[in-house]
Amino acid sequence: MEQKEKEVFVINGLAGNKKLNGSVVINGAKNAVLQAFAATLLFQDEVVLKNVPEIEDVKNMVEIIRGLGVSVERRSRGVYVVKVPTNISTELAKEISKKFRASIVLTGPILARFGKVSFPHPGGCVIGARPIDIFLNGFEALGAEVEEKEESHLIKAKGTNPTTPKLRGARIFLRVPSVTGAQTLMMAAVLARGKTIIKNAPLEPETKNLADFLNSCGAKIKGAGTSVIEIIGTGLLRAKGRAYKTPPDRIEAGSFLILGAVAAEKLEIKNCNPEEIESLIETLRYCGVKIELSKNKIVVSSEKNDKYKSTDIKTHEYPGFPTDLQAPMTVFLTQTEGEALVFETIFEGRLNFVNELVRMGADIRLWDQHRATVKGPSLLHGREVESPDIRAGLAFVIAALIANGQSIIHNVYYIDRGYEKVDERLRKIGVDIVRQALV
Ligand code: EPZ
Repeated sequence: MEQKEKEVFVINGLAGNKKLNGSVVINGAKNAVLQAFAATLLFQDEVVLKNVPEIEDVKNMVEIIRGLGVSVERRSRGVYVVKVPTNISTELAKEISKKFRASIVLTGPILARFGKVSFPHPGGCVIGARPIDIFLNGFEALGAEVEEKEESHLIKAKGTNPTTPKLRGARIFLRVPSVTGAQTLMMAAVLARGKTIIKNAPLEPETKNLADFLNSCGAKIKGAGTSVIEIIGTGLLRAKGRAYKTPPDRIEAGSFLILGAVAAEKLEIKNCNPEEIESLIETLRYCGVKIELSKNKIVVSSEKNDKYKSTDIKTHEYPGFPTDLQAPMTVFLTQTEGEALVFETIFEGRLNFVNELVRMGADIRLWDQHRATVKGPSLLHGREVESPDIRAGLAFVIAALIANGQSIIHNVYYIDRGYEKVDERLRKIGVDIVRQALV
């Protein structure tokens, strides 16, 4: 394991006292900017990306893209410039691509522009099997051949003429409403010949955000953010000095909102877009959490003896309850009065983390891969726990800071993949958290 992967967080809990106070500023969205980096491969000229979060997954994405022979300059904090040369390697580096699932979004633009791409089966979190049939079937529909060889996928477009489009437009129905599946095929279709229609796309706002930027640079994409996306192939795009500005991270905003609800006297969450987490906000308000909203800010506050009532949650594509907030919300539910069903409909492995919460004193019963019941309120006690993935990692931080006693959270590398300098930002609002290297 690399050094950075041997770090732990040591957290001394508040034992249920809601003492945190202050404000956090939300960074650019991981699940928007990774796709934006991939989209730069559709451009003839250089592309500037702004408000880029300095997180591990961005470092991983930059390393993969540089490994293809693409120039990526980090101009300053949060500002990157990408310039694609005439020819690049079309083989994603195995080791690093396996480290995070999002590397797969590069395959669409590379295949569409250069006529071929090879990549390992993407790795990432342990939240589920993470099949890639939507991508492979989509590429075949766009006129490519798919071959498996030594744990790699080799995709080759049938069109090999160097001056004409490598792929042809197609009508694609997504078997499952896959977020990166829709986004990857949408990007490939920008360079395909003719019209592509993608049906059963999920409505996640990051897809519309991406399409809006591509359209401002010459693409012809209609319906992004709805379940039917129509793309007319236009050929390479030109930024002509336009910069991509990463939108605020709705999952980070939601994570801090949940943290504030269980541990803060008053917490301001700045530079966020409350409209993108209405499902969470309405759910927390239903439980009795005091939340005030303004255009780019959320304020959550609580009195010492506030009691929250429990409620069931069921994860769903946008605008439903986000699966990426299920783990932090499950921790919140351990502090509410009553019994709640947590129904994780999207990933079959995303409730595995509850076993560690039970070891911290939570009263949770896992019925099957998709359903658990949480009884509360429970006083949690500090333990040594392992973060299995990005979002469960943050859920353990929330559990540790409301627990009685000290917790040690391993694999903070996972948390760093999705949240920039989270320990520094938490210390600023009163959390007793220290990052330590494992000796
Ligand atoms: C995106 O992942 C996000 N990642 C995930 O965030 C998020 O949890 C997920 O969407 C759902 O909202 C990025 O945007 C980089 P899916 P993605 O394809 O696109 C099945 C985080 O913590 N499926 O929408 O990989 C799949 O197994 C991450 O920030 C297939 O069956 O998720 C799952 O059950 C985690 N075949 C369902 O679709 C496929 O080919 C939804 O997954 C693709 C997906």
